Amino acid sequence: MNGRKANFYLMTVKDRAVSAEEINKQKEFIERVRKVNDEHFLASGKRRRAFVLTLGCQQNEADSERLMGMAIEMGYEKTETPEDASLIMVNTCAIREHAEKRALSLVGQYKHIKAKNPDLVIVICGCMVVQEHRVRDIKMRYPYVDILFGPSLIYKLPEHLFKRMNGSNRIFDPDDKEYAVAEGLPVCRENKFRAWVSVMYGCNNFCSYCIVPYVRGRERSRKKEDVIAEFSELVRAGYKDITLLGQNVNSYGKDSGFDYDFADLLSELDKIEGDYVIHFMTSHPKDATRKLIDVMASSKHVARHFHLPMQSGSDRVLKAMNRKYDFEKYIGIRDYIKEKMPDATLTSDIIVGFPGETDEDFEDTLAALRRARFDMIFSFQYSPRENTPAAAMDCQIPKEVKAERFERLLALQNDISYSLNKEFEGRVVRVLCDGPSKNNPDVFSGRTDGGKIVFFDGDERDIGKFLNIKIETGDTFALSGKIER
Ligand code: SAH
Ligand code: SF4
Ligand code: F3S
Repeated sequence: MNGRKANFYLMTVKDRAVSAEEINKQKEFIERVRKVNDEHFLASGKRRRAFVLTLGCQQNEADSERLMGMAIEMGYEKTETPEDASLIMVNTCAIREHAEKRALSLVGQYKHIKAKNPDLVIVICGCMVVQEHRVRDIKMRYPYVDILFGPSLIYKLPEHLFKRMNGSNRIFDPDDKEYAVAEGLPVCRENKFRAWVSVMYGCNNFCSYCIVPYVRGRERSRKKEDVIAEFSELVRAGYKDITLLGQNVNSYGKDSGFDYDFADLLSELDKIEGDYVIHFMTSHPKDATRKLIDVMASSKHVARHFHLPMQSGSDRVLKAMNRKYDFEKYIGIRDYIKEKMPDATLTSDIIVGFPGETDEDFEDTLAALRRARFDMIFSFQYSPRENTPAAAMDCQIPKEVKAERFERLLALQNDISYSLNKEFEGRVVRVLCDGPSKNNPDVFSGRTDGGKIVFFDGDERDIGKFLNIKIETGDTFALSGKIER
């Protein structure tokens, strides 16, 4: 493990762009697959269809939009039903055991579809399949999977697909160890008014519990010109909510050798004219700067929303997690955000049951929640990840203890969320309307700039528009109210 980590650090280089020749080669493969698919269409009257299933974080969702973008250029139609597809792509996540189990069980279900349709090509990609033991698993136990590639190699889909469609053996391409950045891939965006823009890939932090640095490789930033061009194009096309993505956006630019950081990028993007809001995630507290918070506070478009994962309120646990900050530093940043933007929404990630977490450590986390008063948290029971330092630590916490702590954490957070949301009653908030809500199509839903869910009396014409909603009820997980026209 240590040797591997050291190698990763040595690999930091300044320019990580996939070469123009390589991208052009993939474009040629796109044309070649398209030709095959067009011939199929002429012969059968039916277009081949592509289905993508995405597990994991927004980064994976952004990658899937590129996989589907390439598939469409290759002549596939998008389908939401795997049974109809000639190309199934499963974009996996490795963050917790549950995510991996889900991916494998889904792939298991596709065996029957392949049995009925030998024409079907099954691709498995994403973070899970970079791990050697998973590559072995797929080779041995999932013989109907045709193609496997890691997240830094999604741009090779056309080449792999063409080769497999033309009689190549199964293709396994988990990890190129180069971790290049591919620009100019086609993209099929899922939503007409919310969009992702990756600003950087990978992570150098090696939190002791986390698999991401091993599967996503070292930090590499996209060139600011590429980010600004993609962002401006989205604003021009009418996107209203744009989220800048990276495992640790605060490291943006550090690998580039230029004196230009994430706060500079945010401030430059904010100058682009238009009616839109910018979000970003995720920030690591160890390098969340006052400069960044000042830029947010004085910006026109940056949402007053800070997602700042704390993970634990115990200094001892934070040290064992290799988070490189203590509670005092964390709360100092939190207080500075609230000082500059009293109305900011604050959200966080918390892990319970990290190896060696005592009752006292857990009480520190509860006390930290009471002090920080987050609007919402994403909480997780610690899940050992193969080959990470924490998985080898003594004193793994029993399942029942994790579950019990998890329940107590949620109960406390629910009380805090409820009382913060109550304070919204009578206030008017700006909401981006998503459309009819999933559970009750008579009620519309949307989100505030701070990311809170709001239910209201909308209609179809409001979808994708900013509305002013007068909040009548604040509840634990959502607000509800009426449109002020
Ligand atoms: N880069 C982001 C986090 C990405 S993963 C950051 O550092 O903030 C999202 C969240 O998953 C993490 O914040 C952490 O709370 C949780 N997580 C990561 N590894 C985990 C593990 N092994 N078990 C349980 N939760 C984990
Ligand atoms: Fe994982 Fe830590 Fe990197 Fe976040 S910062 S992706 S938790 S190693
Ligand atoms: Fe999962 Fe990979 Fe994201 S492990 S959380 S999909 S970076």
